[in-house]
Amino acid sequence: MANTITNPQIESYVESHTSQGPKYLHEIAERTHIDLGERARMLTGHVEGRFLKFLVSMLKPEKILEIGCFTGYSALCMAEGLSKNGRITTCDISEEHAQIAKSNFQASQYADQINLILGPALITLETLEGPYDFIFVDADKENYLRYYETVLPLLSKNGVIAFDNVLWSGQVLQVEDQTEETKAIRELNDYLIKDDRIECVMLPVRDGITLIRSKGSTDRL
Ligand SMILES: C[S@@+](CC[C@H](N)C(=O)[O-])C[C@H]1O[C@@H](n2cnc3c(N)ncnc32)[C@H](O)[C@@H]1O
Repeated sequence: MANTITNPQIESYVESHTSQGPKYLHEIAERTHIDLGERARMLTGHVEGRFLKFLVSMLKPEKILEIGCFTGYSALCMAEGLSKNGRITTCDISEEHAQIAKSNFQASQYADQINLILGPALITLETLEGPYDFIFVDADKENYLRYYETVLPLLSKNGVIAFDNVLWSGQVLQVEDQTEETKAIRELNDYLIKDDRIECVMLPVRDGITLIRSKGSTDRL
């Protein structure tokens, strides 16, 4: 089991006590493992996928933005929780990943609701108009802080941003780990907790997810 921070027995207990997703998602995950081998560790997977669907069902976003589409697994989880007029914009830098994702979207009932943009996310973001009600960031970790500063102004008043992999298999605690990815994740985590504009909560789900919203956004509605 890749990218988890809890012990494997707890993780498998959590998996078996989280509602099943649809069969096609299981098939997409399986095909991703077969076709892309080790890269399949990038899949959000069952528990986080159900969590994303749950969040979307609660937040009822009209517009979702995803940075890091891969084979489309997480976008399809979010699409499940979306209303009929909801839309997802997702992006990826890899033509190979984008092609697989596109065919997975086409085979789903959500093809008309998901728009995939190919290219480096920072360039793609320049072309997008907010506001977005839910933003899921799950791409290259070195750019996490840049993504944060770029998407915060695109967030709707009551919107939520979710950053994936914020615990990075626990490496954030290993001071000897000075790799660019680990440093970038630590930098984002330390930045968010000092940022007066927002409030955040870090959840030890799978590899760690931080949820962010603008301060005061939904207080005393
Ligand atoms: C962890 S995977 C996303 C997994 C996906 N959210 C899911 O659960 O199936 C990260 C993806 O980000 C893409 N990526 C990496 N750097 C990128 C960049 N600069 N711009 C856009 N996408 C990027 C990779 O090609 C990869 O498909």
